Amino acid sequence: MKQKIAILAGDGIGPEVTHEAVTLLKAVAEFGGHDFTFTEALIGGVAITAEGTPLPKRTLDIALASDAVLLGAVGDNTFNALPPSQRPEAGLLQIRQHLGGFANLRPATAYVALAQSSPLRPEIIAGADILFVRELLGGLYFGEPRWWNKSPDAPGHGEAINTMRYTTDEVTRVARIAFSLAQSRRKKLTSVDKANVLECSQLWRAAVDQLAPEFPDVTVEHQFVDSMAIHLMNRPRDFDVILTENLFGDILSDESGVITGSLGMLPSATLGGRVNLYEPVHGSAPDIAGQGRANPLGAILTAAMLLRHSAHLEQEAAAIESAVHRVLNDGHRTADISRGAPTVTTQQMGQLVHQAFTESTDRRQSMHAV
Ligand code: IPM
Ligand code: MG
Repeated sequence: MKQKIAILAGDGIGPEVTHEAVTLLKAVAEFGGHDFTFTEALIGGVAITAEGTPLPKRTLDIALASDAVLLGAVGDNTFNALPPSQRPEAGLLQIRQHLGGFANLRPATAYVALAQSSPLRPEIIAGADILFVRELLGGLYFGEPRWWNKSPDAPGHGEAINTMRYTTDEVTRVARIAFSLAQSRRKKLTSVDKANVLECSQLWRAAVDQLAPEFPDVTVEHQFVDSMAIHLMNRPRDFDVILTENLFGDILSDESGVITGSLGMLPSATLGGRVNLYEPVHGSAPDIAGQGRANPLGAILTAAMLLRHSAHLEQEAAAIESAVHRVLNDGHRTADISRGAPTVTTQQMGQLVHQAFTESTDRRQSMHAV
């Protein structure tokens, strides 16, 4: 299996956590005799500093010539005064657009070993297993017009505009992916909107309902985003696939970090475009960058999603996920999930997962040899 992987580590804790993810991908390649190549490029604040733009052309060219893109995080407070179009985050939004993936899969699973890391009671989260499908290329993130005219004598001073816009086709294509994922899971789809207030949400709901008959084995329910926010905390086990638009998905997926015990545990994969994009859900966490305190498991589980969805190495993806379970079951914790217990560093956590992965593959190899 050949796989050209672009590595865009980005800002803050991005490089630390990505390093651990790449180490595991290298271990998978070595174990299976796969030919993975890794090409690094700049994105976000580091790219602004080095080249004056959050998404340099070289980065985009490398990404577009790859089979998969693995991204760390973007965001740097140094650039807070800049308009959105010039900030580090603009690099991420632009690359999402260029790569074209519109279905952002964000699984949120409750880990038995981390039951005490969540502020929710163990009996509330036990067994929770949710897959968010977040629409990634539409809505308020990209809708036109958008502006904030700061100049005091310009028309429109004192006003700013963002536009939520969706077409039926944009909803249908992402809903189709959510429905088929629900078919391979517990066959329940919850579509989240604000159809009591927004036309966009009414169109969203109509498109989902129109598609539903093609998936007769999937039960569909609609929820308003405000009540969804509380259901997610009160009864997370009731949900299987949650389909929603860009901004609602951004917010609800961060909230689901409460179920897993930490935002640092959440991976994501963006499918449906020219090149799949893989990024952990967490941000660049500048407050802890460079201190070895970041949790690399979100990035490592993101690498597992890359193996599953781009390299089609399901066994290896599952082996990495089991290795993460094993390390957590053995009691190893980074600061975000430690609740005061002794912690390991970012690098140590990566090494522990690597070791657990290697041991499981050694076992598999010796089983084959018998
Ligand atoms: C995420 C992030 C991004 C988003 C930011 C960094 C632009 O919060 O991936 O969830 O809002 O999509
Ligand atoms: Mg977010």
